[in-house]
Amino acid sequence: MKIRILPAFRLGILTLAVFVAGTGTAWAFGSRDEKSQDSAPAEKIVYREDFEKGDGGWRARGKEVVAVSSGNGREGGSALKISGRQATWNGPIRDMSVTLKPGQTYRISFWAMFPEGPESQAVNTSIQRVVDGAGEEYTTVGADRFAKGEWTKFELVYSVPKSKFETPLSLYFETPYKSGEASPDDLIDFFLDDIEITKLPPAPPPEAEKDIPSFASLFPELTVGAAINRSYFDPANAHHELLRHFNAFVYGNEMKMDAMQPVEGKFNFNNADYLVDWAAKNGKLVRGHTLLWHSQYPKWFFKSSSSATDPATKEELLARIKNHIQTIATRYRGKIDTWDVVNEVVGEDGNLRDSEYLKIVGSDEYIAQAFRWAHEADPEAKLTINDYNIEYSGAKQEGFYNLVKKLLDEGVPISVVGLQSHISIARPSVNDLRSAIRRFASLGVKVQVTELDLSIYADGNEPRKMADRETLLEQAYKYRDLFAMFREEAKAGNLDMVMLWGISDDDTWLDNFPVAGRTDHPLLFGKDLRAKSAYWAMVDPERLPIYIQKVDAPRPKSGAVSADSDIWKFVSPRPIADRKGASYGSFKAAWTTDSLHALVTIEDATADASDGVTFFLEPKNARGETRSDAAVSMTVTRGEAIADDGSSYTLFATVPFGGTGAKLDTKVGFDLRVADGTAKRSWNDFTDSQETSSVNLGVLNLKDLPPVTFAKRGTAKIDGRAEGAWDAAEAVPLDVKTQGFTLDGSTFKAMWDDETLYVLFEVKDELLNDKAADAWEQDSVEVFIDQNNAKTKTYEPDDAQYRVSFRNAVSFNGGDEGAFASKSRIFPGGYMVEIAVPLTSVKAAPGVLLGFDAQVNEADASGVRSGIRNWVNATNMGYQDTSGFGVLMLEE
Ligand code: XIL
Repeated sequence: MKIRILPAFRLGILTLAVFVAGTGTAWAFGSRDEKSQDSAPAEKIVYREDFEKGDGGWRARGKEVVAVSSGNGREGGSALKISGRQATWNGPIRDMSVTLKPGQTYRISFWAMFPEGPESQAVNTSIQRVVDGAGEEYTTVGADRFAKGEWTKFELVYSVPKSKFETPLSLYFETPYKSGEASPDDLIDFFLDDIEITKLPPAPPPEAEKDIPSFASLFPELTVGAAINRSYFDPANAHHELLRHFNAFVYGNEMKMDAMQPVEGKFNFNNADYLVDWAAKNGKLVRGHTLLWHSQYPKWFFKSSSSATDPATKEELLARIKNHIQTIATRYRGKIDTWDVVNEVVGEDGNLRDSEYLKIVGSDEYIAQAFRWAHEADPEAKLTINDYNIEYSGAKQEGFYNLVKKLLDEGVPISVVGLQSHISIARPSVNDLRSAIRRFASLGVKVQVTELDLSIYADGNEPRKMADRETLLEQAYKYRDLFAMFREEAKAGNLDMVMLWGISDDDTWLDNFPVAGRTDHPLLFGKDLRAKSAYWAMVDPERLPIYIQKVDAPRPKSGAVSADSDIWKFVSPRPIADRKGASYGSFKAAWTTDSLHALVTIEDATADASDGVTFFLEPKNARGETRSDAAVSMTVTRGEAIADDGSSYTLFATVPFGGTGAKLDTKVGFDLRVADGTAKRSWNDFTDSQETSSVNLGVLNLKDLPPVTFAKRGTAKIDGRAEGAWDAAEAVPLDVKTQGFTLDGSTFKAMWDDETLYVLFEVKDELLNDKAADAWEQDSVEVFIDQNNAKTKTYEPDDAQYRVSFRNAVSFNGGDEGAFASKSRIFPGGYMVEIAVPLTSVKAAPGVLLGFDAQVNEADASGVRSGIRNWVNATNMGYQDTSGFGVLMLEE
């Protein structure tokens, strides 16, 4: 074995990813520095501070000490020292109103250093502004890490948002915000020096790519469209070029009630006329959004016409509804593909929304009539009932489904259910959305996805974050899986149109919803109008940036690890595959404090002296275009293999972490490169640049072994009874109290045969209740399965959750519904559920490891879920995150 510590590449300068705030404009950094562009307008330095003549007006934001410190400067001399910080937001601040002007773009650079603390820490560059009417606003405009004890240069580009008045604006530096108690690592003392601000010439206007395929043309089986605004029709508007990617258009705002009829009887058709004419000339379809809504309506709509204070009467309101709908729908008769007739008429509880319409009309009559009037005015148009939060099961979906069913039964001409689909990277899953599409299609209507966008935030609580490569890749893969599903559902006749709620991230309503000013990146094209990974994931996956694979590595309970240690039985092999996904080997990883251990098998039928595997470690998972001082590499040759049958070989490697070793629950940068004769291929970094860059290394999560249980071979008859075949299976207690109260003594058993995993629950429960509308609130059991035991943070196609109530009502999240079977049986003091879970992604055999958990949901007398218990995972996140599952090992 050859061990070598990689030399570190010290460039002195850290080039930061450019990160431009909020409403500012972004452009790629680099060409700007090319001085050869004579015609380019000049840059101008507008601020410089080296702290040689005092503190330059820099002050503390909190109770920390901000003072000039002589002899500690970057090149001798003085620096600004920040010490005694008590919170992450403590740091130096200075008013820059005179320097940084609205509408202008600046490059801000500075040097920073911290002498004591963790190996590396991040510094955020932030702007504090007092925005007209909106109070103080804090925006992080740059963030990156620097290593302990080294002066590091930071650079970022910031565009000051335009505002009506000039606003007071300050620049400050802090460490990244942490809620709760800050650790000493977050509160480091640090030095600042040589702050420089350069005014940049105006950014070139963004330009859409002209030479890339039209997005919609990839989906001949369905119509793909987007929301736009009127200004996009202007060829001088850079968005105009992007229109060619779509086959249908809807206005984001221009056809809402307040825009169409601002004053009673005075309609404004200008924008709608334009869209309809333009679409006809250009062979595009139009969605009309929306005839009725409880939002963005003109003030007069619900007011009495005879009294200033009274609401409209029922007759008055219905007459207005009829007139609004028929005036518009008649004008565009035959020219609108689909109308949103009513928008968002159901509340979160599944009942009719408590809107002005309902208050005044008193029933769903206004909905039924709206559809009849629209149909009368334009019999050809598809008519939609449109809503959000019906993309996954729950009270709202249930209530919405029942409403549509009732109205259809009454003969109301609803032809489309619209799923708005303002969803996020986190949820709902592709399968949830598929189930929703199928469920509504089963009513005999078409489904349209009407307002799709994929937020990078899980919900409104998540703080503003950067759209980094990993986030955008995660989004890209979800878009890819969504559109693959859309294609299938379109072929099955369930789905006929998908509209995105916008085209490019510079123009998305999610920048201000649900959190004002929290920049989002939900669409297919970026803020620079260029195609994002989300677009390429569907158009040409080869052009995606490299995905950072993450793999759990366990450590043994005690002792060392060798090639034949027991621990390997409990580690799932991870495929080593090329960029197209073709696998040519696999590896398992485990760790001890001082070393990483790997067992690698490579398929290679032509043995060569140069065959072998090189391992790369970045022990602190530092990432950058250089390797850290701590980087390690090691090569094991095929000659040193522990097994070699000519067509494949297996080798074992122990790679020392160096330094003080590794710690539980930390991450290590990791890659391996396989040499096959003169050819080389890598597990993660397809550019094979591991010697000089850590950017594309994969990640190992250093963990403990998860709990393991065993299943014997055997076949169960699904009849809700513990027949003889179950005698040999061990009863595993459900001991983990995840939430609330549940009785002790519930167990599960597991068994397997060729294509099935059998699970038998015996639940102790004195009081059985399934009154709740949501299946998970009912007395029920759940099986979580991660067939390839990859323990991923989101559900992959092999992951599923199956739920069965004590009355054998079944609900699914992923999985193969057709091949699933279950039977329940109530007995005094509890119930039994016998389940057959299809094994679709693994070949069942002794030694195979499945990611697995089992759960019991306990309902109280009122029907509310009062407790949850599990075999392993107490997070209650198993429905979307498989990383906390235990392991089920198949045995003979
Ligand atoms: C949004 C628009 O995109 C924004 O520009 C506007 O400020 C608010 O409305 N559901 C709908 C759409 O049906 O009409 C909404 O559009 C987004 C949520």
